[in-house]
Amino acid sequence: MKNQQLHERRSKVIAQGMGALYPLYVEKAENAHVWDVDGNKYIDFAAGIAVTNTGHSHPRITEAVKAQIENFSHTCAMVTPYESFVELAEKLTELAPGDTEKKAIFLTTGAEAVENAVKVARAHTGRSGVIAFKGGFHGRTNMTMGLTGKVAPYKAGFGPFPNEIFHAPYPNAFHGISTQDSLQALEDLFACDIEPSRVAAIIFEPVQGEGGFYQAPQDFAEAVRALCDKHGILLIADEIQTGFARTGKMFATEHIGIEPDLMTMAKGIAGGFPISAVVGKAHVIDSALPGGLGVLTLVLHLVVSRA
Ligand SMILES: Cc1ncc(COP(=O)(O)O)c(C=O)c1O
Repeated sequence: MKNQQLHERRSKVIAQGMGALYPLYVEKAENAHVWDVDGNKYIDFAAGIAVTNTGHSHPRITEAVKAQIENFSHTCAMVTPYESFVELAEKLTELAPGDTEKKAIFLTTGAEAVENAVKVARAHTGRSGVIAFKGGFHGRTNMTMGLTGKVAPYKAGFGPFPNEIFHAPYPNAFHGISTQDSLQALEDLFACDIEPSRVAAIIFEPVQGEGGFYQAPQDFAEAVRALCDKHGILLIADEIQTGFARTGKMFATEHIGIEPDLMTMAKGIAGGFPISAVVGKAHVIDSALPGGLGVLTLVLHLVVSRA
């Protein structure tokens, strides 16, 4: 009853563009369970779309939030930094796959992380092109909408998008697209649309989420890594949905055994508090000038994610 009343109120004041999957209004949530306003209890398989990897209201996260608020809420880590800012970067750069020395930047949303990964890739290579995959989801800002490989509902009516973005099919046995088909499509892009020496980055999800939960085949990921190395293109792994143990390892690229040049992280990093990161090879990520990358409001979220 209360669910229905709230849903009617919502329909009057919330734009339909913010879709509503379930007319179920949450009263409380704990670990894997949610309770709605009518007293029904559910097992939460949605997890805020792959965000609450440690469960709802994990006690360590709750404690970290409380403790931080007692101390300070904001200073701007780019003006007067604090320990959690450094400590989390130390942890993530250690966890990121591969032997190359890494550095990190912190942002607030997944789309911001993707935007910044593209900025870094362009600054490092001096090139403009970016290749993404059909069915891929990278966010809802202008740049990331452009990268997202799905028109309805993410791009319909919202153009124009930034130029120099190209899409290739993601290999998908279910839809009859082999690794060879996808690799050929990349070669076709190089032949028809953009020469590889103008491509800054190829961005891919190790497991497509919005695209339908399709895993990149091992031979495809390895071939794309080799293609990037051949042409001096940077490989960006968008681990925003697959990161933080969603696939059984800390990052999905660990299953494949390749080292991306840049990784985007968000969602599970802070269990619902808005923090995202780009972690990448130090010599790559340091291509941006001081002040060229950053965000203001981070402190609470950094503390949460190290909890
Ligand atoms: C793979 C991937 N990239 C980027 C994003 C965008 O993240 P945000 O919604 O935090 O901007 C998402 C969000 O669903 C995602 O799954």
